[in-house]
Amino acid sequence: MAKFVPVEPFDIVIFGGTGDLSRRKLLPALWHRWLDGQILPTSAIIGTARSEMDSAAYRQLAREACEKASGENWDAKAWAQFEKIVHYVTIDATKPDADWPALRKLLTIDAKRPLVFYLATSPHLYVDICRAIGIADLADEPARVVLEKPIGTDLESARAINDGVGEVFAERQVFRIDHYLGKETVQNLMVLRFANMLFEPLWSHNYIDHVQITVAENLGLEGRAEYYDRSGALRDMVQNHLLQLMCLTAMEPPNDMGDDDIRTEKIKVLNAIGAIQADNVRKQTVRGQYASGLQDGKPVKGYLEELSSSKGSKTETFVAVKAEVRNWRWAGVPFYLRTGKRMSARHSDIVIQFKPAPHNIFGQGVESVNRLVIRLQPDEAVRLFVQIKEPGPGGLRVKSLPLNLSYAKSFTLRYPDAYERLLMDIVRGNLSLFMRRDEVEAAWRWVDGLIEAWEASGYDPETYAAGTDGPLSAAMMMDRDGRSWWKEV
Ligand code: BG6
Repeated sequence: MAKFVPVEPFDIVIFGGTGDLSRRKLLPALWHRWLDGQILPTSAIIGTARSEMDSAAYRQLAREACEKASGENWDAKAWAQFEKIVHYVTIDATKPDADWPALRKLLTIDAKRPLVFYLATSPHLYVDICRAIGIADLADEPARVVLEKPIGTDLESARAINDGVGEVFAERQVFRIDHYLGKETVQNLMVLRFANMLFEPLWSHNYIDHVQITVAENLGLEGRAEYYDRSGALRDMVQNHLLQLMCLTAMEPPNDMGDDDIRTEKIKVLNAIGAIQADNVRKQTVRGQYASGLQDGKPVKGYLEELSSSKGSKTETFVAVKAEVRNWRWAGVPFYLRTGKRMSARHSDIVIQFKPAPHNIFGQGVESVNRLVIRLQPDEAVRLFVQIKEPGPGGLRVKSLPLNLSYAKSFTLRYPDAYERLLMDIVRGNLSLFMRRDEVEAAWRWVDGLIEAWEASGYDPETYAAGTDGPLSAAMMMDRDGRSWWKEV
């Protein structure tokens, strides 16, 4: 049975409080933590934005968002209590002369009480908002600031944001969110690796043939055309989520779960990823863009039609990369990363494929390869594929079957959304699941190199039909290495 320990009373100010992230994720996450008794009634949630609105109207907005997230489990009685801690202030947070005193009145300034500034706004506003917070004299510890991705669009812009934020907040006050790190199954990666003795002796080039990390989505642009077209799959997904998954898979055991122990191990992996150059970019990467196609039997538009821009676009909606981690543990082990929109199904998996047994005594056609398949979402599971003898007389048939740990069968608990865990960690001041400045910048350095290589080699996206697994070249990239993408049968 999960035990929810209430966090100390806190104030959270959400800039961009009426926006999509607040409505879809932040307000429902806080509501669910309230329902589990983790947030005490002396806390305050303060939405802010430029729109003129009073707290009553904001409570209504929040209620609609939380009702939608709760579905059939809506608890109107609990809401009546929760809404008492929800407030709103109209403020243009980039302006030091905005109505900061009105915000201050809603805060309980206390040297021991956590004060969270959540920047759910466009990243180009981060620095100005932080400066205004500083001028309003609200940035001293225990204040902390939360930055959503994307932090910049390349190394230079990321540095400018980090520098600007750093003028006001010390690094230990800065919580850079990658929501994948708050997912239950992603956190379980560390438990699986470091709370079991079974895997560690095998976890290296000695026994692992290769690793695959796939984050496949079946959705398209979902109304985010403007942002997405400037970003593309490499910046939107690989720079953060996929590289973070790779770090957790490849890193050395941290000394403990302390803030900097995990992050120090992750940065070593990021710094060891081999740069991709113009002369190998077509061998080691695949860039795709979806065309129209069929998804679940229904016709869907191609990327360019969804974009409805007459100018066309060379933005990729699919990326596959063969990456290397150049260190002692992983020498020679490819890490194949793949992500895309409008793929055949939504699934995120990490597949560790072990080397075949050194000598096969069972004759031709018998596979002797083990795979550890970590299904991050949906149908969360950990499956270890082992070979077994298929029962029956006459001959000896060997079959690969999984030892199957299904989350749905093992746990009855409601899964908290990643933001629930992350928000409570922010209040507790626990930085271990947040990205440190050097991690973000190291990830951009590698991504910038890859973008330069694409540009230098004139590699424009190849098209793939919506509802498929990306361009044919992605399968061919594996085929050239005598491997294939894992597909659940
Ligand atoms: C976001 C990306 O960070 O992650 C989106 O900007 C993507 O494009 C989303 O759809 C995927 O997150 P999840 O939790 O649905 O896998």
